[in-house]
Amino acid sequence: MRVGVFDSGIGGEAIATTLRQLLLGAEIITINDHKHMPYGDRKPDEIIQLTKNSIIPLIKMDCDAIIIACNTATTVAITSLRQTFPNENFIGIEPMIKPASKITKTNRIAVCATPGTLKSEKYYELKNIWAKNITVIEPDCSKWAELIENGKSEEVDINTVVKMLLNKNVDVIVLGCTHFHWIKDRIIKAAGHSVKVLEPSDAIASRTKSLII
Ligand code: DGL
Repeated sequence: MRVGVFDSGIGGEAIATTLRQLLLGAEIITINDHKHMPYGDRKPDEIIQLTKNSIIPLIKMDCDAIIIACNTATTVAITSLRQTFPNENFIGIEPMIKPASKITKTNRIAVCATPGTLKSEKYYELKNIWAKNITVIEPDCSKWAELIENGKSEEVDINTVVKMLLNKNVDVIVLGCTHFHWIKDRIIKAAGHSVKVLEPSDAIASRTKSLII
């Protein structure tokens, strides 16, 4: 079994790490587009085109499934990818608003994501379906992915953002960018026990397993 994983950068490696632990025996191939990252600041047309170009090698490798391990590329481009490559088995990653909406007790959640994700139609749809009666706070994380990509994650000002979210009584923080998985432990530490931090690695691994085994 061969699974392709695409992200603009090192976010895909975070997802691949979990896949390798849970899909023993599967061949996990990661591919990125470091040269053009961050995708989050780009226009939708560019994100769609860059994503299509980047995944060609995975398509040529005949993957059983291709995981778009990038919230930005999924929310902006997955519909177009499915139209262009109808024979591929795409698995997308989008902000976990649905699970967050089910567990929040304060009815206030935060989504940390790129500007591209936050501006996408798919993200609006998600909020419309699952968070109609919930306050969704979207802190400015626009510089985070690039800092993490370039090995400067210690420069991400987690404490200021988390403190602001705690002041607003948020009890669930959704990591809506796979780059942020690399700073998850620091976010959990800053947020404390009363806040849940959600990211989809385990869910994606289970879904992949169920789809291709
Ligand atoms: N890792 C990507 C995501 O999940 C974003 C990084 C970027 O802006 O290129 O959205």
